[in-house]
Amino acid sequence: MTVTIVGSQLGDEGKGGVVDLYGDAADVVARYQGGDNAGHTVVHDGEKYKLSLVPSGAVRGKVGVLGNGCVVNPETLFEEIDTLHDKGLDPDVRVAERAHVILPYHRVLDGIEEDEKADLAAGTTKRGIGPTYEDKAGRRGIRVGDLLDPDVLRERLEYVVPQKRALAEEVFGADVGEAFDVEHLFETYREYGERLAEENMTVDCGTYLQDRIDAGDNVMLEGAQGTSIDIDHGIYPYVTSSNPTAGGATVGTGLGPTVVGQGEVIGIVKAYLSRVGTGPLPTELGGVEGQTPGYDPETGADTDEEELATYIRDEGGEYGTVTGRPRRVGWLDMPMLRHAARANGFTGLAINHIDVLAGLEEVKVGHSYELDGETVYTMPPTTEKWGDCEATFKSFDGWSEVDWAEVAAEGYEAIPENARTYLEYVADELEASIYAVGVGPGREETVVVENPYE
Ligand code: GDP
Ligand code: IMO
Ligand code: MG
Repeated sequence: MTVTIVGSQLGDEGKGGVVDLYGDAADVVARYQGGDNAGHTVVHDGEKYKLSLVPSGAVRGKVGVLGNGCVVNPETLFEEIDTLHDKGLDPDVRVAERAHVILPYHRVLDGIEEDEKADLAAGTTKRGIGPTYEDKAGRRGIRVGDLLDPDVLRERLEYVVPQKRALAEEVFGADVGEAFDVEHLFETYREYGERLAEENMTVDCGTYLQDRIDAGDNVMLEGAQGTSIDIDHGIYPYVTSSNPTAGGATVGTGLGPTVVGQGEVIGIVKAYLSRVGTGPLPTELGGVEGQTPGYDPETGADTDEEELATYIRDEGGEYGTVTGRPRRVGWLDMPMLRHAARANGFTGLAINHIDVLAGLEEVKVGHSYELDGETVYTMPPTTEKWGDCEATFKSFDGWSEVDWAEVAAEGYEAIPENARTYLEYVADELEASIYAVGVGPGREETVVVENPYE
């Protein structure tokens, strides 16, 4: 069977930790979208692993697959594999031949376009994600399978590189270097192809996964990013260029929707909001310069809110895994979660980070929005309208700091009562059951209510 792990908010909900927890019962962990824009943290034997491309299950010896819906930067891929080797692990990673390759010009163009876009910039990770998906849709992309065939690789590069060079030089007036040089790219990427072939890493993803399922194996589908930064269902244009939502798990692996639909779809919820990037955020507390629209710390800051934001940011370690940028933080946004529950059809929830909120006297959630004189309970389809939404808050009594490791060992009933009231409110609103509650970053610091593979 399959278990699909989906971010229900804006990324960084703690997906890596949940994949690690439930991945124990899985034989294969496959990613279905995104690339090295992801930053997934897995804590294993006291060691912290930060993975941006290799599926989180690889840390525990599972086969990790990068599905056809992913965009793969071979440089990052081999760097991560080599780092894991240095730490004494021997990751078994397979890459879909249908996955698209991130080339150096994609990264350069990502940077240039972000600067050009000004207010429309999403604050991307500058990993070349958007430009690579653009080329995929524009049918000028280079796929992993093409790296294995030098003639095809050369033909594709000769077609696409002059266009990219013209775009960089003539439209954006940039100086281009070897990132736009056919010969250099051909040699470098042919070598990556040779390593992929030598290490027997490439697969026909859908066939590979279906064969494993038919043989009785458990497959985990690891989403990256989150529903509100999905290119279709998120806060366009402040989104990533793929589909983190559960539908992406079928398109991005080659498993049929009925196969994925027979399994479980678990929504990962952070108990408050965090956001790396730009665009509106109705339940935001305080702001972060360069990310919160119109925010000027000199004039715009409400000191109480800033204090709360700093408390949550520091307690939660809310600094980007990939970029180190401070994350914007805010109260839980229920309309955002109702939207996610519908778009993904969650069968269960893992709610993380309730330990981070411990010690606050009051915990709030944005229960609904006021928009144009009406009360709304889900996200409006345009980001401009979302920016006009005023959150109506619901208040919960806070809970104190406790020994969370003990709570995790004892089980759900050991969670402080006020925190349970909060959790149950979320589960009731989303009509999904709580499968796990995160009370700390380590795998042992999770209260497991339900194992989806059982
Ligand atoms: P992902 O991108 O969804 O995999 O999440 P990230 O790894 O980017 O960010 C989540 C961060 O929170 C990581 O540093 C995790 O170790 C940590 N984390 C995950 N769950 C919990 C939790 O329940 N409590 C606390 N305090 N930290 C958590
Ligand atoms: P994980 O998997 C949080 C955000 C970027 C930017 C937008 C587009 O760790 O949850 P991109 O580089 O993808 O073109 O950037 O999406 N973003 C993320 N935010 N977590 C992530 O991944 C993200 N991946 C991309 O900040 O706003
Ligand atoms: Mg992350």
